[in-house]
Amino acid sequence: MCSDHICNSLICSNTWSSRPSLYLIQPLGSKMAHLRSLILLLSISLLSLPGLSQFCESVNGYCDSENILASSKILIKGGTVVNADHQEVADVYVEDGVIVAVRPNIKVPDGVRVLDATGRLVMPGGIDPHTHLAMEFMGTETIDNFFSGQAAALAGGTTMHIDFVIPVNGSLSKGYEAYVEKAKLSCMDYGFHMAITKWDDIVPKEMETMVQKGINSFKFFMAYKGSLMISDELLLEGLKKCKSLGALAMVHAENGDAVFEGQKRMIQLGITGPEGHALSRPPVLEAEATARAIRLAAFVNAPLYVVHVMSSDAMEEIARAQKSGQNVIGEPVVSGLVLDDSVLWNPDFITAAKFVMSPPIRAAGHGKALQAALSTGILKLVGTDHCTFNSKQKSLGIDDFRKIPNGVNGIEERMHLVWDTMVESGQISATDYVRVTSTECAKLFNIYPRKGAIRVGSDADIIIFNPNSTFHISAHSHHSRSDTNVYEGRSGKGKVEVTISGGRIVWENEELNVVPGSGNYVSMPPFNYLYHGIDKADQNYLASLKAPVNRIKQSL
Ligand code: URP
Ligand code: ZN
Ligand code: ZN
Repeated sequence: MCSDHICNSLICSNTWSSRPSLYLIQPLGSKMAHLRSLILLLSISLLSLPGLSQFCESVNGYCDSENILASSKILIKGGTVVNADHQEVADVYVEDGVIVAVRPNIKVPDGVRVLDATGRLVMPGGIDPHTHLAMEFMGTETIDNFFSGQAAALAGGTTMHIDFVIPVNGSLSKGYEAYVEKAKLSCMDYGFHMAITKWDDIVPKEMETMVQKGINSFKFFMAYKGSLMISDELLLEGLKKCKSLGALAMVHAENGDAVFEGQKRMIQLGITGPEGHALSRPPVLEAEATARAIRLAAFVNAPLYVVHVMSSDAMEEIARAQKSGQNVIGEPVVSGLVLDDSVLWNPDFITAAKFVMSPPIRAAGHGKALQAALSTGILKLVGTDHCTFNSKQKSLGIDDFRKIPNGVNGIEERMHLVWDTMVESGQISATDYVRVTSTECAKLFNIYPRKGAIRVGSDADIIIFNPNSTFHISAHSHHSRSDTNVYEGRSGKGKVEVTISGGRIVWENEELNVVPGSGNYVSMPPFNYLYHGIDKADQNYLASLKAPVNRIKQSL
């Protein structure tokens, strides 16, 4: 599994599990030069994991973990500070992980680390609303765990993500416990969504517990028949429960029964390769499920969040609902915005299989339509659906596309690709860029302005971005543990030069300085802005019924 061609971490673990091992910090090219820092990081990682402080004495000389873990004082000087609503030239001063001043000409005493941001943009770190780290799925587990995935994120300017907890045999609490374990490797802030995969008397009570634990969103899979898929009846129950809790209901919108039929049809036609994946689940099935979920949400008057909108057909259903006044949030993902399905017809199986995700990457034209919808505000924020499998894992479906683990990378590439695709092309402004990559996510999941803003009192999750530099993407230099990258060979304008996470510089000069166990869980309260006014609308609805009609009972 760890042969050189499929594992580019310095020292591999020999399973795909998320057990602590040694960690990917640098691409292969800089192995030796950074061996010492790796040893230091290993020492610190051992120290920072619960129950491992006894290692301190045995790694004498590397026990200055406090220094590394302590927040430093940083002054970011002379940059253009960009928020979702405004941009201005200002300095940003950070102390103990928090932004304490944003204004021109801040003076600081000696000993403060000063970063010159002249000619650069100083923006809130990205927040990725949609990831799957260490997820057990389709007979295997995603190759990026909470350390490698987050390290990759930080190298690309994302400082927080929200991952989907998958219940264990339908149990939310067991799923939650499993993800708490997985997330112990974290090196940046993260939150959780929770998937709902069955319904009984216990699940709604567990949903209440999850909200108390800081989960304010629940995902319903309308596809993956036989594993994660739920029925319309369950979706209705879930929508009602989410509404009563002030939680956001999210849907993976594809008609799973029809997909199942489409898959059988492809196999009967002898189409067993990755192109069969796209052909078996066309846009009409995404549009149908999107429309159905939207109508069921309207029926109970609950807000709805549609994840990974991949087709213009689904996007148009969202636009229609919004026009009628319904609160529906549409999330495109980077793959849907910038790729097209021609790659699935590549004659090389692995080259094609790496692009298999659901809903599928669509024909040319859909991406452009999604970009336009993002620029006009129909689609609100960009995720990645980072769900990475390496070539060996993708090969599970060599004879049958239905067995190819679904998912692509993106957590490291999102910030660069959205800038290049949307800002460099003139479709959105820098302030809009901050909104779609960070602020809107913080608002929707109710953690704004702690996250998503360069503002006094906000967490010091900051990027310094050079709009005149260039990014290059390759599996040889990325920080994911995967041996492939769906954006291989792409380059473009704009580069994240520095990432500050929780007040620490974690990415600078193309080097990561990350510590497993240093990331924090971010508890997210319910009743986000979409809930404002819902009770009034419900009261108006009840008043409009003019029912029950008071009839005088007469004997016939
Ligand atoms: O292909 C995908 N999208 N894999 C991750 C699971 C999901 O549906 O989000
Ligand atoms: Zn999904
Ligand atoms: Zn997903």
